Amino acid sequence: MLNGKTIVLGVTGGIAAYKAASLCSKLVQKGADVHVIMTSSAKEFITEMTLQVLSKNAVFSDTFDERDPSVVNHIRLADAADLVLIAPATANMIAKMAHGLADDMLSTTLLATMAPVMIAPAMNVHMYGHPAVQENMKTLERRGVMMIEPGEGLLACGYVGKGRMEEPESIVAVVERFFAEKEDDGAKLLEGKKVIVTSGGTIERIDPVRYITNDSSGKMGFALAKAAQQMGATVHLIHGHTDSPPPAGIDAEAVQSAEDMYEAVLRHWQDSDLVIKAAAVADYRPAETASSKIKKKGDTMTLELVKTVDILEQLGKSKTNQFLIGFAAETHQVEAFAKDKLVRKNCDLIVANDVTAEGAGFRSDTNIVQVYDAGGLVEQMPVMSKDEVARRLLTIAARRMNGEAN
Ligand code: PMT
Repeated sequence: MLNGKTIVLGVTGGIAAYKAASLCSKLVQKGADVHVIMTSSAKEFITEMTLQVLSKNAVFSDTFDERDPSVVNHIRLADAADLVLIAPATANMIAKMAHGLADDMLSTTLLATMAPVMIAPAMNVHMYGHPAVQENMKTLERRGVMMIEPGEGLLACGYVGKGRMEEPESIVAVVERFFAEKEDDGAKLLEGKKVIVTSGGTIERIDPVRYITNDSSGKMGFALAKAAQQMGATVHLIHGHTDSPPPAGIDAEAVQSAEDMYEAVLRHWQDSDLVIKAAAVADYRPAETASSKIKKKGDTMTLELVKTVDILEQLGKSKTNQFLIGFAAETHQVEAFAKDKLVRKNCDLIVANDVTAEGAGFRSDTNIVQVYDAGGLVEQMPVMSKDEVARRLLTIAARRMNGEAN
């Protein structure tokens, strides 16, 4: 519920502005105090009166329309906001935000606010994919602006593709989750807990210059390590091959092979409260690692592979009080395979990701996961940044570890 929360709702000029009416109404029904700021182009699509009636507050669009000399409205709104939500956010507004322009009431308020900012982009599929828009969005993400990714489908312009503003119900759910997690953060749900996170891909050597690995970038595990630390845990991150260095300020240990990762995990296992195996661990390794470079000979070559140790399965067998979370990277029969791993590896939770889905799995900044326990589906998460997935997953785990419901 959003009781007591002040939300500044920015509405910019795209056809999805009509959905702002429903969004505004739903936020108010949830108890939020909603103050709408419209751009002049938004008023081409929806009237101020509609949003004024639904929000039960005056709607602002002109920075210079200051009727009360005792207040400066864009500063008052900027200071009052617990959240600034821009829905829809046009390519133009995203560009203004990225470059710090302040030439209307909304962009001026955005520069003045210290509140968190969330945007729901909506535009034509080609505009959305344009490098300028993508770069502007990356800039905003780096500054901590939260993105509510647009959906795919038939767009008002006639194209089919990505660019449709997320539905109001889903935006409200994201907003509610944001406030719920902020409260959880304050409570430091993992205070005093020791957490091991594994991340990245293992490297199984063939010879001194060749190896077997996989596409894991380490992003999912890094996000988990950061989130666990923010939630008060003492974190030990054990990572294989990754695309970037581990996050600053995290106690991190680099390993190569599945065997190395197993040994590293075992050194911390007895002391740990929560272990999350987000690493993509090789199932097989070369039976022998050649000590010098294997020279080219015939037209074919056979490499004998042998099974690696299944770290998660071993932990599942020896666990005492530890809470164990596995990941399942699947390309088909996602639910069935994930549930099988949950049982076979004796996990408390398994996080399934269909790594063939756009916006999910290896290397992407987002993921789409389903969390299962022995009773079945715990939560189906929509496409979310890996940081958000991490926080939500850890919240579920922490509550269960503390004997609470999700
Ligand atoms: O690193 P990113 O680019 O951000 O990508 C994230 C991810 C796709 C790697 C991550 O979300 C993910 O799914 N990680 C698990 C990948 C994997 O190895 O899945 P699996 O279904 O093969 O293994 C199931 C579980 O057993 C995993 O927790 C794995 O760590 C563990 N395992 C597997 C084999 C093995 N020998 N030992 C293990 O511990």
